[in-house]
Amino acid sequence: MKVIDTQDLRRAFGSFATGVTVVTTHSDTNGPVGFTANSFTSVSLDPPLLLVCLAHGMRSFPLFEKTQRFAVNILADDQQEISSVFASRGADKFAQVGWRAGDTGSPLLEGVVAWFDCEVHERVLAGDHTILLGRIVDYAYENRAPLGFCSGAYLRFGLLQQAVESSHRHGRVRVGAVLECADGVLLEAHPDTGGFGVPASTRLGGVGEKGGLFGKFAEAGYTITLPFLFAVYEDGDTQFVIHRGTAVRQAASASTHAALPVSLHAFRLDEIPWEKLTSPSERMMLERYQRERATNVTGIYVGTAESGDLHTVTTTRPL
Ligand SMILES: Cc1cc2nc3c(=O)[nH]c(=O)nc-3n(C[C@H](O)[C@H](O)[C@H](O)COP(=O)(O)O)c2cc1C
Repeated sequence: MKVIDTQDLRRAFGSFATGVTVVTTHSDTNGPVGFTANSFTSVSLDPPLLLVCLAHGMRSFPLFEKTQRFAVNILADDQQEISSVFASRGADKFAQVGWRAGDTGSPLLEGVVAWFDCEVHERVLAGDHTILLGRIVDYAYENRAPLGFCSGAYLRFGLLQQAVESSHRHGRVRVGAVLECADGVLLEAHPDTGGFGVPASTRLGGVGEKGGLFGKFAEAGYTITLPFLFAVYEDGDTQFVIHRGTAVRQAASASTHAALPVSLHAFRLDEIPWEKLTSPSERMMLERYQRERATNVTGIYVGTAESGDLHTVTTTRPL
């Protein structure tokens, strides 16, 4: 059997890329307490359960060992500082961040991507850690880039995105998305040619902003989530940054869709109108999407419209 060097094992575990959370609780004696954790895992949908692993050596461990409630805050791309504060043994971590108490009294931090307010479901002793299982009583989430962590370094997905966009500031940039909703893949109609294309805009923008990709879908009555980069390529003088994600139709807009200025149509994967796709590179992209959906592999294409490399980044569950 291999002799396990714990420091080396820690480094090996560290090669698993994760998000970063701050786990909090409220103690009657100590007030708000919290620590940075990347051992967060979703566990069950029904009942709604999550878990986080607590090191027995943490200063706050005795408080988390007793508490009946806690919250998990998933940090955003720009909250690296907060991660460092809560990973320290500092006394007053909460003086450095905005927060409010959730239903259970556990602190919910401002500016996070998501939070889950929990009651303790079960504790499982596991070596030098305790697995804390929480039953979710309330949660919320936003469509923002999360902070990542791998091999001891923070990964800033949003920054990567900005870098790609700003490095091509002087050329033309189209930011698009291959998006699937319950009815199929959403394509944008081009009324002048009678063709269809991958929905795109000049930038991502915010949900409330006109002219950006998020704004375009919001206007058409969809809420979109873009977890993956799908392709970055040049076609003529234009740089394309294409994401891959999901879209959900907002109930209120269902009946007014026809009158909306943006014309999106959902096509089932086996009914994509190939002959009506005006751009050959978009046709290739959708063919790849169809293949990747069948095998549950996700890749990022980087290159030009004619040639490039496909980097396989992850194997995912079907969207
Ligand atoms: C990115 C990152 C992830 C961490 N994940 C965990 C974790 O999952 N469980 C844990 O017990 N400690 C984890 N830590 C370490 C704690 O945050 C650290 O020990 C902290 O000082 C605990 O605070 P306390 O001593 O005030 O309780 C992590 C630290 C970092 C930087």
